[in-house]
Amino acid sequence: MGSAITGWGSALPPRVVTNDDFAARLDTSDAWISERTGIRQRRMGGTTGSLAEEAARAALARAERQPAAIDQIVLATTTPDRLIPATSSPLHAALGCRGGAFDLNAACAGFVYGLVVADALLQVRGGAALVIGADTLSRITDQDDRSTAVLFADGAGAIVLEAVPGESAVLGADLGVDGAAADLLSCEHGGTITMEGREVYRRAVRAELDSIEAVLAATGVKIDDIALFVPHQANVRIIEAVNQRLGISMDKTALVLDRTGNTSAGSIPLALCEAADAGRLHDGDLVLLSGFGAGMTWASAVVRWGRGGPAAA
Ligand code: ACO
Repeated sequence: MGSAITGWGSALPPRVVTNDDFAARLDTSDAWISERTGIRQRRMGGTTGSLAEEAARAALARAERQPAAIDQIVLATTTPDRLIPATSSPLHAALGCRGGAFDLNAACAGFVYGLVVADALLQVRGGAALVIGADTLSRITDQDDRSTAVLFADGAGAIVLEAVPGESAVLGADLGVDGAAADLLSCEHGGTITMEGREVYRRAVRAELDSIEAVLAATGVKIDDIALFVPHQANVRIIEAVNQRLGISMDKTALVLDRTGNTSAGSIPLALCEAADAGRLHDGDLVLLSGFGAGMTWASAVVRWGRGGPAAA
């Protein structure tokens, strides 16, 4: 049994918060934020469930599937709407899906973790899954702390993954965590995010490089075979550092963080969906996904886009 990505969709709340909006009330500037992070504006608002539902409905429409065709929801999120139940549970009811649903917390690597888990489930028993990455980080960010407020925001993206005969959409993956470094980025119950930004930055570059090299070695795929690189959208300098070391051009890289900020599990599917909507992906293309976040988790995967076999040379 193989699998195919048959639909995709994303959701952003309507409220735009610009760098100048922060500069108007905090000791910061558009120049500092855009030069240090690449972020120019971000979206804030909504709930994780509402953003996930909007993204899921768009993905189902693109796949031309009714919700009842889905028998598994995997919702990657660090910001569930409530501690109990899982956000995927009312989402499952709102959409009218069949089968099961669960939340998965692997922070900014969550969407890739979710994709790998969903693909493995389809290998076992067929069917179709919605894999969603959704976060509302603005709700757990101290909006008066300039060192985190300008970074974190809200958004969601989703794909439909269907069991099909033949090859799996996930050619290979590398998943990891370094729990000894967990305190570098954390949020207590009822609290807000604290982060040692410089150390997280250093580890993000190292972990993404190692993880990408591991997945390329495991799959035998070369960088030049990759049609599109979709990295976690935390800081454009992290992306540029990884690209430079691996020889990936920025032209082949999906970027949304200038308009979305860091949306954690939402970030990779948001960038993937925008690239697909812009016609940058074709059936059979190889896509490299890589994320790094709280935990500290990381995940990279080589994925074959869309229906059908390998892209024509
Ligand atoms: N505006 C102006 N000055 C600021 C701001 C701001 N918004 N934020 C911090 N500063 C100041 C600091 O106070 C510091 O001042 P000081 O030198 O007087 O002490 C100075 O700028 C430099 O601070 P650094 O933290 O060293 O700045 P750096 O260049 O490292 O950039 C940043 C900070 C953007 C946070 C960077 O470290 C980063 O991107 N880290 C990685 C974040 C990340 O990737 N997270 C991924 C996981 S997210 C998740 O899992 C939810």
